[in-house]
Amino acid sequence: MSGVDFEQLRARAIEISKLAYAPYSEFPVGAAGLVDDGRIVSGCNVENAAYGVALCAECGLISELIATGGGRLVAVSCCNKLGERIMPCGRCRQLLFEHGGDELLVDTPIGPKSMAEVLPLAFGPTELNHVKEQR
Ligand code: THU
Repeated sequence: MSGVDFEQLRARAIEISKLAYAPYSEFPVGAAGLVDDGRIVSGCNVENAAYGVALCAECGLISELIATGGGRLVAVSCCNKLGERIMPCGRCRQLLFEHGGDELLVDTPIGPKSMAEVLPLAFGPTELNHVKEQR
């Protein structure tokens, strides 16, 4: 038992997915994250006529995390408009990893998994610091 209220996170993800701007894919997404100080941060996807520059819901979540004081992410949930859990895309796993590390709990369709399980051997700040320390 992680003690994380995933139902609450999912409810927030579903709520914010209703604000998504997804006229091209028609695939609204909401993401919600629990921060180590108890805050809940969230975001929705924001698409663009230049398709490739779309912002995933997790980008909004990370922006809110930083803009409201930072902290470490403990758990995240991403949902589609049917309220189903979806996996963060590869790029977003990387974004989330930066702020939650290997221990971050991801609410996958088959239950909570650690980030280490869904993004094994991730590249992160440790690798950069390792080289910096050689100077
Ligand atoms: N999307 C997200 O918001 N998060 C993900 O992790 C996967 C994909 C969005 C991007 C795009 O607006 C739509 O879903 C379809 O790919």
